[in-house]
Amino acid sequence: MTMTMTNLHDHVGAEVAGVNLSHPVDDTSFADIEQAFYEKSVLVFRGQDLSPDAHIGFSRRFGPLEVHILHQYQLDGHPEVLVLSNKTDAEGKAIGLVDAGRYWHTDVSFTETPSMGSFLYAVEIPPKGGDTLFASQFAAYDALPKEWKSRLGGLKALHGLNKTTAPKFTDAQLALVKGVAHPLIRTHPKTGRRALYGGVFVDKILDVSDTESDDILSFLRKHWAREDFVYRHRWQVGDLVMWDNRSILHHATPFDGQYIRHMHRTTVEGEKPV
Ligand SMILES: [Fe+2]
Repeated sequence: MTMTMTNLHDHVGAEVAGVNLSHPVDDTSFADIEQAFYEKSVLVFRGQDLSPDAHIGFSRRFGPLEVHILHQYQLDGHPEVLVLSNKTDAEGKAIGLVDAGRYWHTDVSFTETPSMGSFLYAVEIPPKGGDTLFASQFAAYDALPKEWKSRLGGLKALHGLNKTTAPKFTDAQLALVKGVAHPLIRTHPKTGRRALYGGVFVDKILDVSDTESDDILSFLRKHWAREDFVYRHRWQVGDLVMWDNRSILHHATPFDGQYIRHMHRTTVEGEKPV
C-alpha cells in the first residue's frame, strides 16, 4: 500500500490515504505524516477501523497524552480515550461528553499549556450536520495587512472563560477565573511559522486601553475565521481527524439530536505558546 496525501483546501488540511492505522506506522511514513501535520494543521484518515489501543498508540507518537478530568466519560479500561457522545445508558444518563465548542476556539487556551492537538475518531455519525470547521491561523496571520502585523506584534491576549463559553457560570464565578496571557501571534515550535492565536476564550488585549482592546478584537473576530481560511470536515464513520491547536481555530456545527454522534478522542499535551 502506498501512502498518498491530497490537499483538502488551499490553506488547511490534507487527506492521507493508503495507511492502515490499526497497525503501527513505519518510521519513514510516520515522519512524512508528522511533517504534513505540522504544515497542514489538519490530517484526515478515512475508512479506519481503530481499536482504542491503536488510537492511543498512534496519538502517543506525537507526545504524552492528557487524561480528561471527567472520569465518567473515559472509555472503560482506556482513560486516555474520552468519549464524546449524545448516547445515554439504560437509566438515561449521558455516557459521554456532549460535544461542545460551537464557537471558534483553540482547545483550552485559557490554560498555561493548552493541548497541542486532538485525534478524533468517528464511531457513529448523524446523517447530516455535526461538521467540524477548521480555520488556518497561519493563513490568518499571513493575510493580515502590514500595519496590523506590526500593531499586533508583541501584544498579549487574556484567555479566560466568559458568558459565551461558560453560560452556566454566574458573574461572581467568572470573576474568580483568573485567565492566562498568551501572545496574539505565536510561532509554531516545529515549523517556525507564525500563526494568529486567538479565539472565543480571548476576553481582552493586555497593556492597551479598553477602547483599543475592543477595536483590535472587533477586527480580529471578523478576520480569524474568514471564509477563505476555512476547511469544513463532513464526517464519515471510520474517519480519524487530527488537528494542531497551535495553528488552527475550530468550530463544531449543530446536528439533529434525534440522531447519534459518537466519537472517541485522544488529546496530546501542548507547550506554553511563544
Ligand atoms: Fe475543541
